[in-house]
Amino acid sequence: MNKPRLAALPSLLVGIGALSCQRPLPAADERPAYLDPAAPLESRVEDLLGRMTQEEKLSLVHADSKFTTAAIPRLGIPSRWMSDGPHGVREDVGPDTWNVAGHTDDFSTCMPVLIGLAATWNPDAAAAYGNVIGEEARRRGKDIMLGPGVNIQRTPLNGRTSEFLGEDPFLASRMAVSYIRAVQAHGVASCVKHFAANNQETQRGSIDVEMDERTLREIYLPVFRAAVQEGGAWAVMGAYNRFRGQFCCENDYLINRVLKGEWGFKGLVMSDWGGTHDTREAVFNGLDLEMGTDPRPRPGAPQGKSAADSGPGVYERYFLAGAYRDGLKRGEFPAATLDEKVRRNLRVMIATHVFDGREDGSLNTAAHQDAARHVAEEGIVLLKNDGRALPLAAGSLNSIAVIGENAVRLQAHGGDSAKIKALYEVSPLEGILHRMGATANITYSPGYRKDGGADLIEKAVAAARAADVAIVIGGLIHERPFDCEGADRKDLGLPWGQDELIRRVVAANPRTIVVIASGSPVEMGGWLDRVPAVLQAWYGGTEGGTALANILFGDVNPSGKLPCTYPKRLEDSPAHAVGEFPGRDGVVHYAEGLLVGYRWFDAKQIEPLFPFGYGLSYTKFDYSGLRLVAGSDPKGPVVTAEFEITNTGDRAGAEVAQLYVHQEKPSLPRPPKELKGFRKVTLNPGEKKTVSIALDRRAFAFYDPARAGWAAEADDFRLEVGSSSRDIRLQGALHLGETTVER
Ligand code: BGC
Repeated sequence: MNKPRLAALPSLLVGIGALSCQRPLPAADERPAYLDPAAPLESRVEDLLGRMTQEEKLSLVHADSKFTTAAIPRLGIPSRWMSDGPHGVREDVGPDTWNVAGHTDDFSTCMPVLIGLAATWNPDAAAAYGNVIGEEARRRGKDIMLGPGVNIQRTPLNGRTSEFLGEDPFLASRMAVSYIRAVQAHGVASCVKHFAANNQETQRGSIDVEMDERTLREIYLPVFRAAVQEGGAWAVMGAYNRFRGQFCCENDYLINRVLKGEWGFKGLVMSDWGGTHDTREAVFNGLDLEMGTDPRPRPGAPQGKSAADSGPGVYERYFLAGAYRDGLKRGEFPAATLDEKVRRNLRVMIATHVFDGREDGSLNTAAHQDAARHVAEEGIVLLKNDGRALPLAAGSLNSIAVIGENAVRLQAHGGDSAKIKALYEVSPLEGILHRMGATANITYSPGYRKDGGADLIEKAVAAARAADVAIVIGGLIHERPFDCEGADRKDLGLPWGQDELIRRVVAANPRTIVVIASGSPVEMGGWLDRVPAVLQAWYGGTEGGTALANILFGDVNPSGKLPCTYPKRLEDSPAHAVGEFPGRDGVVHYAEGLLVGYRWFDAKQIEPLFPFGYGLSYTKFDYSGLRLVAGSDPKGPVVTAEFEITNTGDRAGAEVAQLYVHQEKPSLPRPPKELKGFRKVTLNPGEKKTVSIALDRRAFAFYDPARAGWAAEADDFRLEVGSSSRDIRLQGALHLGETTVER
């Protein structure tokens, strides 16, 4: 647990004599305006700002440990605690080192990785997820949670693919908004990251990203915009990379012009850990809080008070510490720059009720574990199911051969900053044993091992041959250079001989189920056509093994859909097809432009291995009766697509209906279709439900650089309703009568 928190009330009598430039403190019985929960936010902020000395202000714009900023006891300002990350509340480190703190009370619930959340296509699941994060953050004493990660999947090789919400800005926005609102409902700020164009780990600290304005606006910025404008996220973390030549944490265009200017963001921008590079740029280009700077002296850089490389004194060497103070003294930096940064920091504290008393939160509750299981179940994607190989009939199985290192591998602790010290993690094998151990003979053989081993395939094949069914649980690991921060994957293949293992196992036992535990797409060359059933299980967190067993044995009907395209070959995927990964001479040009993910595969008519939005169920759904109902309120939806979905199978299940928009004759080229709505509906066998998806003007618009806004043009449009981006079931036509442009 964190250091003891300071009392929320200021000790009004301390330190008065030492202060000169602030407003006199009130008598002890007078409550300062900033402590009045009923006072308007902005007046509380200004009141508190007006009471602070320059030193106190400076202390709020940089770290004083790995994950905190300094307390100001005189004013009752507690130290602020930040924590990773998107999947739960991370184990404590530090204070001045990355070494774990060794606490015994920092176990938490590990939620499924964010790409698995995106695969639920269910904003309610994102809210349940955010609720767990918010409650656990409170109990662990955290003020700002460093998530969600919302960078768009430009390449399936990105080592952090598992930490983000897939390849589509609309889907990712809907999920991020729900997540953020739920976290912040608990008085915890959500820090959406990494702003912006942070799409690869290779040279992440220096790579300069170049792209055209439309691509920026249509693909890479919308999730951030939704996060701050709709989700109300109180914090944004700058990315490590450069954008158009300037580091993202000190990027005038991204932060000052777009985020704070155009979007009206009032919260704080913090750096990624070590993402600050220059005092002047940080001062003027919108950075409000510097975190994680490597404090070792830099050649030519101004030296702080402390010569030590570790210990509390090193924070004086931060760009927004000693050097900022010196610049202020010399008059290089106006005092107003500091006030504005502090104002934003204070605003987040006040808005998240730091001074008003917050809930205690809760940790590792049964409800949190249920939520983790539920999200994991909803995110598992059934990729193939020939001859209804799944679900396995629990009652008639006498023996099961479980094969593959990922059946026993725990993944929660992997992923670098996204790692979680889970209270427990149910492995796939444990999940299967728990579900079936009493009635079936279950064997386990690794089949492959990351670290190698003798006769692994032979033993697995023998086990498969002897069993009623073989379940191969393979995939990747949540470590470098696979699904982990710090490096990108080298290729799309399954490592450690898994392709051969699967081929041999299915040859020995045609009743073979393959489960891929990974945080990003993998190639399935050489065996996909031979195995009857494949599941994409992601990394399921605390209850991942239980969730998987529930899907395998039919207690839960799969309803996940892919939040990203699975290419057949890496060369089919856009960044690689245009030869722009990882870039050249320190620069990466996003030459594929708007054609990211399915937009590319559709435009180039490339058959993917599995398309965006794809996922099977143990039941079947029929779509019928599309009606396009024109909106009558000029401020409301332009049109509402209404249609029926019927469960025509024999099991209850959930379907994600997806709505794509195509413009017939745009004045600028557009992708063939783009996701603009979706709805997940649960249906009993035989049940029929009407689904309504409303579209506003923005759903028809593209970003027109010449008009500096979103243009919905007078034109014909086609609306496509599908079960995936490549399985369109219903179509309708619509005409927009006039062109409108919105900012
Ligand atoms: C990551 C961030 C993370 C930060 C703090 C960085 O390496 O890029 O996502 O929040 O570390 O751990």
